[in-house]
Amino acid sequence: MAIECRPLSFALGAEILGLDLHFPISDSDWESVHQAFLQYGVLLIRGQSISREQHIAFSRRFGDLDEHKSLPMDRNATFPELLMVTNDQKPDGSPSNSRYTGQMWHSDMSFTLAPALGSLLRAVEVPPVGGDTLFANMYVAYDALSERMKQMIEGLNGIHHSERKNSGLSTSWEKENQRLNPPVAQPVVRVHPETGRKALYIGEKVKCFEGMTPEESKPLIDFLVGHATRPHFVYRHSWQPKDLLIWDNRCTAHLALGDYDPRYRRHLERTTVLGTPSGHIAEIGAAA
Ligand code: SIN
Repeated sequence: MAIECRPLSFALGAEILGLDLHFPISDSDWESVHQAFLQYGVLLIRGQSISREQHIAFSRRFGDLDEHKSLPMDRNATFPELLMVTNDQKPDGSPSNSRYTGQMWHSDMSFTLAPALGSLLRAVEVPPVGGDTLFANMYVAYDALSERMKQMIEGLNGIHHSERKNSGLSTSWEKENQRLNPPVAQPVVRVHPETGRKALYIGEKVKCFEGMTPEESKPLIDFLVGHATRPHFVYRHSWQPKDLLIWDNRCTAHLALGDYDPRYRRHLERTTVLGTPSGHIAEIGAAA
């Protein structure tokens, strides 16, 4: 059966129909998926009750997978290619550290020197309502800026931090995270290596611009994040179990809303496709 694409919103995203990931994907189907990935930025494939091995095998079609050495506390012990995004308690009964994963506008692994090309997030169990994820199209956000603003931000580097928004994470997690992930400077405007289009590369993990103080930087960061995440640049995904959501981190940003009753289980697993090296470790003075 030929696969079909159904757009999910005006801004970005498409559902792929007619694909069963229990079986290896043919080269011609892969070509269609890859083209849709570049065109829509976010792809949804519903009803995939696939194993961890099948999730990993399909993800490898996109490229080499991150083994999450920068987040060893959150990866699966047996499958380092899988990052756990879960509110399951730890075996000792303490709260999960990954329950707050993604609750800031961001692009995956922007705080490393190998920011993610793509991510494939599989929903195992989700709350009956809420726990949605929002995606913003960073191409159209860039295109909608004035020419003068585009000139102003060209050549600017944002300094990305790895901290998560919510406090309440264990101190040992925070310390280990900061030790492994010093702040990294990344261009605010990046050229997508496959489409050649420019996209904004900014989010709430950016605390300041290189060479500027946080006070000087904040108004522009706030403007750019607010601009890029305006509702008409955004697709909001309401999860169903067995959804597989795939996104291009080079031209989208996303936010896990955390809008759900925490008594319900929310358990998702993510593979992360390695992107091309980018950025440099920020000067401590400039990172502030
Ligand atoms: C992530 O940022 O990878 C997690 C998104 C989510 O939990 O919805």
